[in-house]
Amino acid sequence: MCGIVGYVGNEHAASILIEGLKKLEYRGYDSAGIAVINNKEINMIKASGKIKNLCEKTDDGKSISGTIGIAHTRWATHGAPNDANAHPHVSNNKKFAVVHNGIIENYMELKKELLDKGYKFNSETDTEVIVHLLDMYYDKDFKIALMKTISRLEGSYALGVICKDYPDTMFAAMLNSPLIIGVGVCENYFASDVTALVQRTKNVIYIEEGDFAEISSNTILIYSNTGEPVTREKTRIVWDVEAAEKGGYEHFMLKEIMEQPRAIKSAIEPRIKKGCISFEDSNIPTDLLEGISRISITACGSAYHAACAGKYMIEELARIPVDVDLASEFRYRRPIIDKSTLVIVISQSGETADTIAALKEAKENGASVLAIVNVVGSAISKLADYVIYTWAGPEIAVATTKGYTTQVTVLCLLSVYLAEKNKKIDAETALRLTSEIQKIPQLAQRAIDLNPQIPYLAKKYHNERSMFFIGRNTDYAVCLEGSLKLKEISYIHSEAYAAGELKHGTIALIDNDRLVVALACNDRLLDKLISNIREVKARGAKVLGVITERSTKIIPETDDIIYIPVGETLFNAVVQVIPLQMFAYYVALHNGCDIDKPKNLAKSVTVE
Ligand code: AGP
Repeated sequence: MCGIVGYVGNEHAASILIEGLKKLEYRGYDSAGIAVINNKEINMIKASGKIKNLCEKTDDGKSISGTIGIAHTRWATHGAPNDANAHPHVSNNKKFAVVHNGIIENYMELKKELLDKGYKFNSETDTEVIVHLLDMYYDKDFKIALMKTISRLEGSYALGVICKDYPDTMFAAMLNSPLIIGVGVCENYFASDVTALVQRTKNVIYIEEGDFAEISSNTILIYSNTGEPVTREKTRIVWDVEAAEKGGYEHFMLKEIMEQPRAIKSAIEPRIKKGCISFEDSNIPTDLLEGISRISITACGSAYHAACAGKYMIEELARIPVDVDLASEFRYRRPIIDKSTLVIVISQSGETADTIAALKEAKENGASVLAIVNVVGSAISKLADYVIYTWAGPEIAVATTKGYTTQVTVLCLLSVYLAEKNKKIDAETALRLTSEIQKIPQLAQRAIDLNPQIPYLAKKYHNERSMFFIGRNTDYAVCLEGSLKLKEISYIHSEAYAAGELKHGTIALIDNDRLVVALACNDRLLDKLISNIREVKARGAKVLGVITERSTKIIPETDDIIYIPVGETLFNAVVQVIPLQMFAYYVALHNGCDIDKPKNLAKSVTVE
């Protein structure tokens, strides 16, 4: 996720744009840039690293004159975070400049077409194809050039463009990526969200999917994707600046929980080509499994919990033995790995010291390493042999939510991909499972919508001295994550336990008023889970059942229920965890905890 902002008016554009970027920094902060038209020329400055580097380069924008411009703060998806890959990108003749948030999924074929036509590329980004298409289609009409350009783009874009032949007009366009128009007095704006504008104007226009806008200081013309003029209502923002940064949510964690359907979709869509799974956007060789006899997955914290879910999925489908290790243990137990082992490391930040060390241990022992990470250009993404990005966008809250669910989503894709490569499933089964994966984003949204009772449940149980999460198979893997979420933001002790294991000792802790959260979303094991629920009920426990809409027979065994929409059982982990994240969030809210920055924790543990 990146942040874009544009300004046209009578004031010093660069200063206003820089201020807007600062408010968008939470959306991406690995590089930034600005382009302003002055004396009919485009003046552009870019800087890798945080926005403060751009501020230093431009004296907070004061060194760039002009009253119309665009700016961008980047969360890298294609190409490392450096000056060359930072936006804006300009055409070879310096006539056009563009800023973009989203992913142009067909950029490779567009880039080939443009290279064949002699265009020179100066970056590794997908975005750069936009500015060369504009140049290719430009015949003195900016609007026509833009319409032809966006008609060629597949994927998602919120983009802003300036042209030096039009020193009073900028264009903005949107598809599957947020963009709003800001309405000022003798000045107008576009931005990724209200955060960048709300200090300048509270009057905004939410344009619709496929719309594009022609913006000058006194006029805003909006067109549908067919080029027909349309009218979109002006809205008054009631949020303050701080609230706006969180999209109107009280905490980043809640915002990121609610973003998950979109984040999961971002992790899936670029990997599905004609119904089949393809990792061509990653550098995975087609013979990845050549000579591989087993897989070892290693990670920390929530990433480790994602690995636990991945073990069940890969072994079930691909029939390849999978070990899962805490990275902090892996590196010190002299793991038995060699070139016949595929090591997978998982990390949201890509900077976790224990995971980096485990990766190095694996490579020293001759293993190939595949990384599943969120941050492009992170240490792990550079050290691994192959990288699959989760494309969750920046995750600000310390407690991961979309970071975890997109990791599990990638593992769902990978399990089907490996199963087909390993000839354990036929093409028809692969197509069916792939279509099940494509349903996950809407199932994730349904998991949110199905459970308006969660704040009430959190209030009912927020004083528990400790909780148990029990489940079987992938439900157990989700218990691990649900338990950690509760612990790390509400400070209530909890334990995740394989439901069948409880009776081997720990059930001694179960007594009156102990809350047991029972995950029962695996039909095949439902009767076993019911027995486990009866075991703890018999010892006085209260039971919060997490069940699918299908497993209603369990309801009489429970005190309260959380519903999970029915999907492919093996891929349930992505969806099941979301109500548990919400439960932990609202319990912590009742307990007055610092939800986005819990005590003792860091977003990325870069020390041992
Ligand atoms: C999860 O909510 C925690 N913040 C923590 O367990 C985290 O998952 C762990 O430190 C691993 O971080 P990484 O994914 O960035 O490597």
